Amino acid sequence: MKTFPLDPIEKASIDELRALQLERLKWSLSHAYVHVPHYKARFDAAGVKPEDLRSLADLAKFPLTSKADLRQTYPFGMFAVPMDRVVRIHASSGTTGKPTVVGYTQKDIDTWSDCMARSIRAAGARPGDKVHVAYGYGLFTGGLGAHYGSERLGLVTIPLSGGMTERQVQLIHDFQPEIIMVTPSYMLALADEMDRQGLDPRKCSLRIGIFGAEPWTHEMRKNIESRLALDAIDIYGLSEVMGPGVAQECIETKDGLTIWEDHFYPEVIDPATGEVLPDGEQGELVFTSLTKEALPVIRYRTRDLTRLLPGTARTMRRMEKITGRSDDMMIIRGVNVFPTQIEELILKQPELSPHYVLELTKDGPLDHMTVLVELQPGGADELAAARLQHNIKSYIGVSADVKIVPISSIERSIGKAKRVIDRRKP
Ligand code: DLL
Repeated sequence: MKTFPLDPIEKASIDELRALQLERLKWSLSHAYVHVPHYKARFDAAGVKPEDLRSLADLAKFPLTSKADLRQTYPFGMFAVPMDRVVRIHASSGTTGKPTVVGYTQKDIDTWSDCMARSIRAAGARPGDKVHVAYGYGLFTGGLGAHYGSERLGLVTIPLSGGMTERQVQLIHDFQPEIIMVTPSYMLALADEMDRQGLDPRKCSLRIGIFGAEPWTHEMRKNIESRLALDAIDIYGLSEVMGPGVAQECIETKDGLTIWEDHFYPEVIDPATGEVLPDGEQGELVFTSLTKEALPVIRYRTRDLTRLLPGTARTMRRMEKITGRSDDMMIIRGVNVFPTQIEELILKQPELSPHYVLELTKDGPLDHMTVLVELQPGGADELAAARLQHNIKSYIGVSADVKIVPISSIERSIGKAKRVIDRRKP
């Protein structure tokens, strides 16, 4: 069987990797300081200069950056190169206020394509594979990111984007792609559509699914893998740091996502105090770009919660599958709850489908959660709701209502799923 060779840095020793990171980090800090007035002001206010970085640990002295910094300098204030060097703009919609705008030089696009090619290869791609790209094309980084990576690897790239579900299924049937790149929630909608068209999802040509852009649990992985007979592999990224391909799960281990640390330096901090936590401890993921030209990010707070783990399939460190974003955390009667925790419990009940939403309402002064979930087709079960309610109480410690809703009544996403409907606000 033909396979693709790894990049030399994927096999480098830890010492080589750390030396490269230090050299690149020095460059990146000074690039940001010299070319972005906002970074200069922030560094000056904190009393640090790029020269103060002598070891990787010194990074902790530098100020953290967040979405607010990008909003404040909207749209192009954080760019570190003149416009005649920018070749691409992307933006993330953001639920409130202005979008976050990101830019790329040609070299940035090349780096991104290389990272994505590396990711697709780590997911198990082989020469000659056809890649069905169902991430959205446009300002969202998913579609074009996947597209450039797949082409860079030399694979047959099929640019579907999101939507037109019936046609997607028909083309999967006709073109026989081995790989699909899509949000896990849209994969479920595609599988439902296969059923509707009388096609057995297990018999489809797909061997690998590269799923990301939203949180999804190990239970969801099992569900998708058994339903479609493929390997479901996790891909992570965010627009501000680049797009998809910042970290990628390797098919041979499926044990969390290898961070492409030669381009993105990770830290995990205590979200409340900003203090750097040792590897292995759970907290908020923070990234510093090491090679980005147009939009360097220094200690960018992702809001994503995870922990750093030692490398296995590669030398580089891994991050554990993301449990949720701090923004998605609900506080129900004092208990912190993430949608992924509810997803896990739903999928432990075979009679329930993976289609669910969580509705938040006010119950007097208190917050109340109702889980709306569909049964599996053909799965009539009067006790399903009571069982889920009981499990939520005993595993998570909160009281929630559970409502079984008719099949297909929960809106299907064609991109990132919206798991929480907040009806608390007036
Ligand atoms: O979602 C980039 C992407 C596209 C990643 C396609 C993977 C595949 P944004 O729209 O800026 O970029 O959203 C980034 O999505 O901070 C996480 O909260 C979430 N996210 C992305 N990948 C994962 C994942 C793209 N594998 C935000 N697991 C991030 C959990 C993820 N959450």
